[in-house]
Amino acid sequence: MKYAILGDVHGNLEALEAVLAQVRAAKPDRIVHLGDIVGYGASPVECWDLVRDAGARGIVGNHERYVTGVTSMASVSRDDKRFTIDYSAKRMKPAQLEEMKRMPLQIATEDGLLFVHGSPRNEDEYLLTWEAVQESVLFLRMTMPEVHVCFFGHTHIPALATATAVESKFEEKPDVQVIQLADSKTYLVNPGSVGQPRDRCAKAAWALYDSGEDVLEFRRVAYDVGGAQNRMRDAGFADPLVDRLAHGR
Ligand SMILES: [Fe+2]
Repeated sequence: MKYAILGDVHGNLEALEAVLAQVRAAKPDRIVHLGDIVGYGASPVECWDLVRDAGARGIVGNHERYVTGVTSMASVSRDDKRFTIDYSAKRMKPAQLEEMKRMPLQIATEDGLLFVHGSPRNEDEYLLTWEAVQESVLFLRMTMPEVHVCFFGHTHIPALATATAVESKFEEKPDVQVIQLADSKTYLVNPGSVGQPRDRCAKAAWALYDSGEDVLEFRRVAYDVGGAQNRMRDAGFADPLVDRLAHGR
């Protein structure tokens, strides 16, 4: 089974269109998104429909929970982030909000995959440190030993880790990085972010995983960053949010 995995689209239509063109060419059996389709970017309505029309299944991110009111915005301290969540909330169609509310926190598959937004034990946890990653791998082994690869988002940084090592080689950020996984290991994988990469590479990120061959591909694709930024400026978004797209951070 071939999976295309898309994380953290964040309302960036230009990035999503570039990624979906590659996804279609790869002909996956399934498309899964990791939540945060909305927030930060200027095109949440369009991105939501594009992801759904592509036939993707997905999980709820913290931005969807803010937009639907499931999670209080009291924990959002930054005004510029709050502005983008309000922007999404005001524009989403009622049917889209209903779809959001029905999305699960996790998806598990029959071939040993788990899809989460933050971490397998907490949807809001950021897996940014080696300790946090290691604890999550051990958590998986103890509570869900059937899971071979757990895909997560939320940090917007591509990652590949096992219980014993962070196995990522992302310094050079190639457009295609193919990695043969080992059957005996448990992996945590972040495909990176489609719409707001934070690993100092402006290209949109996504991943392709073949569960039969156990082969993982990290992909990057250039997109019309200026077009996405213009939409954000026109919508009145704060400069730091607009500027960061060009720097991938
Ligand atoms: Fe996010």
